[in-house]
Amino acid sequence: MGEHNCYGKSESACIKKKAYELWESAVMRMAVFALTILISSSVYAEQGTYKTSNPIQGGNMKNNEVITSAAVYVLPPLPYAENALEPVISANTIRFHYGKHHKGYVDNLNKLIAGTEFAGLPLEKIITETAGKADKAAIFNNAAQIWNHTFYWNSLTPNGGGEPPAALKKMIEASFGTVGACKKELATAATSQFGSGWAWLVLDGGKLKVAKTGNADLPLTQGMKPLLAIDVWEHAYYLDYQNRRADYVNAVLDKLINWSFAADNLS
Ligand SMILES: [Fe+2]
Repeated sequence: MGEHNCYGKSESACIKKKAYELWESAVMRMAVFALTILISSSVYAEQGTYKTSNPIQGGNMKNNEVITSAAVYVLPPLPYAENALEPVISANTIRFHYGKHHKGYVDNLNKLIAGTEFAGLPLEKIITETAGKADKAAIFNNAAQIWNHTFYWNSLTPNGGGEPPAALKKMIEASFGTVGACKKELATAATSQFGSGWAWLVLDGGKLKVAKTGNADLPLTQGMKPLLAIDVWEHAYYLDYQNRRADYVNAVLDKLINWSFAADNLS
């Protein structure tokens, strides 16, 4: 039994010792294997959280795109520089509006849906499934405000305003008479919205219309397809215009409104 290192033990004692050694070795190997699996899966889970996080569509967002996300929503990038909308909207306003308010909605939503049935759902699905439900109001408000703001940033563009693309212009003229009349109706909706909210150009049953919504509400939940949005929450204009909402709205319509984005949203 020398090869088994029994050192003079009886044969049965030697067999018992060998069996114990084999058992001990097997247990150790299983423990190492289990530990390896555990470490690997936790690393994978962490990587998965980040690698599969699909940022909410930003610069090229269209209203008919389903915004998808995995575990964590990410603040979408601005489609232009912070100072690109000056002098109509200052970089200071954008820093607060985008960097604090819009980011705040993203952070809040991530906290609110962590570990719930809404975690990982496309943003639009969260919005439609929580709309009108009092016990889900906080989730709806934050999800809708993420969507609204991303849409709003894309509704503006440096050197915007001017003439809409031909196909859209034809539709505007069919619905409002002139582009000027459409802008006037948008301005009226934006300035007459009581308190916080939004003014919208929408497609409703094949016709263009102007709509307004309060707080975080949006046309998506009313069966209308949004084409453009103007944010009329005070945080959108107060640093630059104080209480002069009409000045902000008219400057946006004349110099920043992104008719090409609206035209893209028709398809
Ligand atoms: Fe806003």
